[in-house]
Amino acid sequence: MQNDPIEEIKQRLDIADVIGGYVSLKKSGRNYKGNCPFHGEKTPSFMVSPDMQIYKCFGCGKGGDIFSFIKEVEGVEFNQALKILAEKAGVTLTQTYSDPNSEKKELIFKLNSIAAQYYSYILLQHSAGKEALTYVKSHRKLKPKTIEEFKIGYAPSQWGALYDLLVKKGYSPEIIEEAGLCSKKSSGIGYIDRFRNRIMFPLIDINGKIVGFSGRIFDPEDKGPKYMNTSDTLVFNKSAFVYGLDKARLSIKQEGAIFVEGYMDVISAHQAGLNNVVAVSGTALTQTQLKILSRYTKDLTFAFDSDSAGINAVFRAVDLAERDGFNLNITLFPKKYKDLDEYLQEKTKSDAKELFKNSLSVYDFFLLITVKNQDKNTAAGKRAIVNELSKLFKQLRDPITIDHYSKRVAEILNIDEHTIREAFTSGKVLETSFGIEASSISTSKDYFAVHTVKLSKESAESYMLALLLKADLDISQTIVYKLGQRDFTNPAIQDIFKELKEYLLGRKRKFEISHFKNRFKEETAELVSDLYLWDVSAVTDSEEIFLRELDTTYKRLKTVSLKRELKSLAEKIKQAELTNDAKALKLHQNKFKELSQKLK
Ligand code: UTP
Ligand code: MN
Repeated sequence: MQNDPIEEIKQRLDIADVIGGYVSLKKSGRNYKGNCPFHGEKTPSFMVSPDMQIYKCFGCGKGGDIFSFIKEVEGVEFNQALKILAEKAGVTLTQTYSDPNSEKKELIFKLNSIAAQYYSYILLQHSAGKEALTYVKSHRKLKPKTIEEFKIGYAPSQWGALYDLLVKKGYSPEIIEEAGLCSKKSSGIGYIDRFRNRIMFPLIDINGKIVGFSGRIFDPEDKGPKYMNTSDTLVFNKSAFVYGLDKARLSIKQEGAIFVEGYMDVISAHQAGLNNVVAVSGTALTQTQLKILSRYTKDLTFAFDSDSAGINAVFRAVDLAERDGFNLNITLFPKKYKDLDEYLQEKTKSDAKELFKNSLSVYDFFLLITVKNQDKNTAAGKRAIVNELSKLFKQLRDPITIDHYSKRVAEILNIDEHTIREAFTSGKVLETSFGIEASSISTSKDYFAVHTVKLSKESAESYMLALLLKADLDISQTIVYKLGQRDFTNPAIQDIFKELKEYLLGRKRKFEISHFKNRFKEETAELVSDLYLWDVSAVTDSEEIFLRELDTTYKRLKTVSLKRELKSLAEKIKQAELTNDAKALKLHQNKFKELSQKLK
């Protein structure tokens, strides 16, 4: 009989090697770091720990082990991830594994399908859906056939219409909540529908199953977010979902994919007979989504809004797509139209086809906006343009492409071609850049970043712990000995500190994070990993700097905690004065003096 293949695979493979196949990782202290493959980013916040065999992105919050990584990055189910990793590890699988969640997933699909039918019924047949139907048909110009194909519906404005229906059909509140269709009332008692008074767009996967919903407001008085989406569930993974792919797949195989920003753009495009159009919903394109697309095509055209969010999305996508060998093009709509939907309200399918055919290669697009942003007639402007472009063109490897763009830029700026070629290939920036900062165009508004964990150096408490977890045993022991639980205020941090002290005092063998982590339950264990994964390599790489940093942080922490104590003593002194308690007053005053001395 075979050992547990999952354990065997975990033992044979190293997480840094597995992830290193997808993401370029740099050693960073005891961990590795790189650009997160699950959300577009320019500065790395994706950390991998060989000690714990886990990864975590401090930008988007995604994290897990090798299995969850492969699932996410390849956009596959557990079984497929197991196969991929077994092959890498040279482990033969003798039995098939069933997904422990498969029953629940089926239930969620079923609930979503009932919900979609209900929403559709309300929109098309119920009087409550009258205004919504007018909006969809007259305002958005959708034909009955389109409404049917995209299963568009309307969620009525009552608090629990869908919830009541589903409960009546025998489904438990817990599963309805897990499907993302309702949520607990803020009072904690009872449930309300998640989507109310919204036009409903079911999110349909490539097997035709409904994995979630997006609901749009249409009442001008409605102050909620314009679109509300299902959060990730057992069957919905936002970063692996491509809207419209179920309908666009075959055309994409033949004609390449057109990427737009909104659901309505996809729907209008299909209604007009443009069948290869898909969207990502309100996020930057991820590596998982690209992986999925690469099964059908290598030709991607972005037809994004000409506003800055659209352009930012392009910049973010380029980095990822270049690495996977996609051929990228950009379509810019004439200024008058905000997006494909608006364009198609006035123009025809063949106009759009013509527009797509004339799209710019991604490098021409870079060239265009960079030149537009600078004065190409002054020396400073020229230098800025070349600097900016060489940053953007740093991925260029193909000599013909380099040659082509060196010539073009030389022509546009009227300077020597070799200077340009040199700048493009060396990646070096010409002296004194007056250029638009890369950040001002690519990350000006960090539209997509969701910071789930806030570990900040400002917080001496968490920083102290992060450093202690990296220090040699004798050093961490000395510091821990001088600290007490009252030096910390955050209960979770206090808890970790208490355990750490216990763990370290009297310990002879070296500190082992995976061992130490076992002392904690879920959430705290996660905080322990986060602290360990926190990239402090800037100070840990040199022993001298590290010791100094430990000392400064220790002092900072002590000062903060002393001040806190003094404040509370001052409070007590005031109290004692008010109540004329001479004894207490004396006691607190002495203590106050003593502590004030320490602060000096
Ligand atoms: P837009 O605000 O550009 O809207 O959002 P749109 O697609 O043109 O929508 P219409 O035409 O006004 O109906 C683009 C996409 O960003 C996501 C949605 O996927 C939307 O289609 N989004 C937008 C959200 O997820 N939430 C929001 O609040 C807004
Ligand atoms: Mn629109």
